[in-house]
Amino acid sequence: MTNQHVLVIGGTSGMGLALAAQLLEAGHRVTIAGRSSTRLAAATAQLTARLAARAGLCAGSLRAVQVDIGVEDQVAALVHDAYDHVAVTAADAVGAYAPLPAFTLDAARSVLATKVLGPWLVAKHLGATLPPGGSLTFTSGIAAYRPGPGSSMIATANGALEALARTLALELAPVRVNVISPGWVDTPIWDTLAGAAKADRLGAMAARLPVGRVGTPDDIAQAFLTLFANGFITGTVLHVDGGHRLT
Ligand SMILES: NC(=O)c1ccc[n+]([C@@H]2O[C@H](COP(=O)([O-])OP(=O)(O)OC[C@H]3O[C@@H](n4cnc5c(N)ncnc54)[C@H](OP(=O)(O)O)[C@@H]3O)[C@@H](O)[C@H]2O)c1
Repeated sequence: MTNQHVLVIGGTSGMGLALAAQLLEAGHRVTIAGRSSTRLAAATAQLTARLAARAGLCAGSLRAVQVDIGVEDQVAALVHDAYDHVAVTAADAVGAYAPLPAFTLDAARSVLATKVLGPWLVAKHLGATLPPGGSLTFTSGIAAYRPGPGSSMIATANGALEALARTLALELAPVRVNVISPGWVDTPIWDTLAGAAKADRLGAMAARLPVGRVGTPDDIAQAFLTLFANGFITGTVLHVDGGHRLT
């Protein structure tokens, strides 16, 4: 891949931020997108500082766009730019895990809006604008394969997203559509999910996994780059989970 323009929806944190950094360091143009202008500004400053510290690097260019992936007008407005690849890592963990009696319908709708309908809106408005060989890559997750109490809606969303991608791989062809399914990855989402118990929970999972550690955002970013670059992969779910499905 050379000089590609990649839109990363969710690019202000965790996996999306790591992906933006790796793309910029490889000389690509990157647009990061998310809801919070504060997070967009912070991510821009962080990425800019990281590139400035790498003297001699021929880095790509960066811009930031405010968008809520669940709002159709905002997603539709993204067509004003031309992209080669689009990655979606957006997810809002607030209220996304709860036992059934406490799970509100609004919270369930919010999970589906961000993780399923958002990617569907991206496909609807941007899919046909991508060049042949371009790609859409979504992010599902291990909860679809190793569900637990409280994860009903995340598991549902992850499974639905993978079914959506298989359909889109045919409907949007020759544009390629794939999904990355991460296992547990040390990102800021765990501050919301586990709070002070974050280190203990990630440590316990690390001990359980065949690879002996949880994932890093860079592990996932590398998988995105593989799916962007390999023109023979479409309709596929790439598991980047340290062997979690086997345990
Ligand atoms: N971390 C894990 O262990 C893990 C495991 C399995 C699957 N996953 C999946 O991997 C993906 C990335 O997770 P992460 O850990 O990198 O999350 P993260 O660090 O919390 O980052 C989430 C990003 O999504 C953005 N976002 C949230 N809601 C959005 C919306 N409605 N519209 C646009 N952007 C939105 C956030 O910015 P704003 O809040 O400013 O919008 C942020 O940039 C998610 O789909 C998650 O479900 C994560």
